[in-house]
This record gives sequence, structure tokens and C-alpha cells, in this order.
Amino acid sequence: MSAVESKFDPKDMIFRHLGPTGLKVSVLSLGGWLTYGGSQKGNIVKECLETAWNHGINFFDTAEVYANGQSEVEMGQALKELAWPRDEYVLSTKVFFGTGRKEPNTRGLSRKHVVEGLKSSLKRLQQPYVDIVLAHRPDVGTPMREVVEGFTQVIRNLNLAYYWGTSEWSATQIMEATLIADKYNLIAPVVEQPQYNAFHRQRFEVEYAPIFEQFGYGTTIWSPLASGLLTGKYNEGIPEDSRFATNKAFFESTIKALKEEEGQQKIAKVRKLTDVATRLGGTVASLSIAWCIKNENVSTVILGASKPEQIAENCKALQLLPKLTPEVLDEIEKILDNKPAPSPDYGRKR
Ligand SMILES: NC(=O)c1ccc[n+]([C@@H]2O[C@H](COP(=O)([O-])OP(=O)(O)OC[C@H]3O[C@@H](n4cnc5c(N)ncnc54)[C@H](OP(=O)(O)O)[C@@H]3O)[C@@H](O)[C@H]2O)c1
Repeated sequence: MSAVESKFDPKDMIFRHLGPTGLKVSVLSLGGWLTYGGSQKGNIVKECLETAWNHGINFFDTAEVYANGQSEVEMGQALKELAWPRDEYVLSTKVFFGTGRKEPNTRGLSRKHVVEGLKSSLKRLQQPYVDIVLAHRPDVGTPMREVVEGFTQVIRNLNLAYYWGTSEWSATQIMEATLIADKYNLIAPVVEQPQYNAFHRQRFEVEYAPIFEQFGYGTTIWSPLASGLLTGKYNEGIPEDSRFATNKAFFESTIKALKEEEGQQKIAKVRKLTDVATRLGGTVASLSIAWCIKNENVSTVILGASKPEQIAENCKALQLLPKLTPEVLDEIEKILDNKPAPSPDYGRKR
């Protein structure tokens, strides 16, 4: 029997269990929204994935809808060329939005689209399976039992995935899916993919608290830098090759808000966070990512990057992590001034 040559060097990476599962993911991961297959194609995609891997990242995320399927095509091609042993990395994709087609059954979470959508994703990715498939949004038009049956089918009967999860579902919908799985001997979701960053906290910190406590639900959080706002790159306006410039229509309301009081207040906070980061020997991007990692309900922070250098910079979050003492966290909390109030426990918290 020939031994498999290991290609993965974890470096100083931290690994966390994906929620209640036995699967371990690097606490930093890399996703392809708006970048791979969108603004970036070909060799640069491979360079980004390779840079991530060389920093100890073992988890990569995409979705059928990203660049209408082209993100899966580009990331799949890069993975093929990089030829890492399949058991050394973790791959997720998401179904729900389809790939821009308009037919009634090429989107949503019907059993038909869950199965057919995932099969099409796998073709684009040139992969026999993904480790995790996520429902990219809840589907209020499909009975929850059918949704859970569809995901159970792709895992249990078709071997197209090992785990399934949710993205931007309410805590109530996650509970409903979990309880239906229990009742009908189906497979329950184990992970949510929500937005979470220093400017977007309410749902993650308050609404999801019961699903973390009761199910140990995992999370792969997105937009840790609020699409780049938390790098400071938008402090003085919109740089030409930045996300807000290259996706003007999509970010129209965000760009407008930046010029108003709410946006200006955020930029003022970014400046103050930059001072803290500089004092600690990092950048505001790496500080903002380290702040996310500090939350133990985060299984992994999905980074987005249009260039390999951004990945290298953002991975420095790991070196900042030990410097986030209670005093520093308190200082950050005062700057942010947006900590959501927890749900009342009437003195009954354990
Ligand atoms: N489930 C969902 O609904 C959902 C939604 C969104 C995202 N996601 C997932 O989460 C991943 C990450 O989200 P995101 O891309 O929005 O993350 P993000 O970290 O908030 O934004 C990433 C973008 O910020 C800029 N950037 C990153 N690091 C930088 C640095 N050090 N200096 C300067 N600019 C920097 C880059 O854009 P430019 O260079 O182009 O300016 C980069 O593409 C996605 O790829 C996707 O996998 C999921």
C-alpha cells in the first residue's frame, strides 16, 4: 500500500469543531463571493487558494449563485490543479438562489432543486462530493419536512455531502428543521452561515444564543470586514479597484449610507480601531478578524480576498488574538458602542 503524501502544514492555525460535529475546520477559511469567477479569474484564484493553504487554512466556501456558477468553476479548477489530498481540505457550497436561470424549479429548496442543484454544483466544481452543503436562504414556499428530507437524501442516499447547514435562517427556522429531523429520523442541520462583524451583531449575539446553547450549532461567519469597511480602505472615499467600485449597483445603498451620518460614524469608529490595532502591532483588518474569532460561537471566519496579499495580512489576526485581553476587548467595546442587549433571563440563567 503506498502512503499518501501529506501536503497540509497547519502552521500556527487554530482548528475548531464545526458545531456539534467531529469535523475540524481552520478558524480562518476562504470564500469566493464576488471575487473568484467574478472580478478574479484564472491564475489569481489559484494563487489565493494556495496562499490560504500555506497559512494553514483547510476550508473553502462557495455557492451555486456566486458569479452564476462561475465561482464554483474557478475554485473547482484551482483545486484540481493544486491537487491537494481530498481528505486534507474541507469544501462547502450552497444551494437556493440557482445560477441566474428563471425556470420555476431551478431555485429554492424543493427536494428537486436541493438534489439537482447540488449535482450541478458538483459538476462545476469537478468534485464527487462537498463536505458541507448549505441552504443559502430559508424557503418559505417549501414545507420544512421536504427541505429536511431533501438534505437528508443528498447525504444519506446519494453521498453527495457529509453535513448540511443553513444560511441567514432565523433561530426559529433552525429549531424547526432540527426538531423535524429528530421526529422523523432525518439528518439535522449543524451549521449556520450568518453575517457577523463588529458592525453587525444583533442576530448572532442575541437571536442565535438559544441554538448555540441547546444544539451547540456551528457557524461559518461571512463579511468579517463588512465588505472591506473594516480595513479602513473606505475612510477617504472609494478606491478605484475596490469592491464598492467594481460592484457599484449592488452596493448602491451602502455607498450612499457612507456619506450620511451613520456611515461617517462607522468610519470614525474604524479610525479609532486603527489606533488600537497599531498599538498592538496589527492592522484594523486583522484586529477586526481577531475580534470575531474571540467569540467562541464562531467555528470559522470566512475571509474574502481579491488578492493573495490580503489573505496574508488577514491571517495576522492569529498573532493579535493573544493580545485581545479583557481590557483591550473592553476598549474596543467602548469604541463600537453597539453591544446588543441580551434577552432578559429574569435571574434564571444557569
Ligand atoms: N451565506 C451568505 O449569504 C454569504 C454572503 C456573503 C459572503 N459569504 C461568504 O463569506 C465570504 C467572505 O465574505 P466577504 O467577502 O464579504 O468578506 P469581507 O472580509 O467582509 O470582505 C472581503 C473583501 O474586502 C476586501 N479586503 C479583504 N481584506 C482586505 C485587506 N486586508 N485590505 C484591503 N481590502 C481587503 C477585498 O475586496 P476588494 O479588494 O475587492 O475591495 C475582499 O474581497 C464570501 O466569500 C462567501 O464565501 C456568504
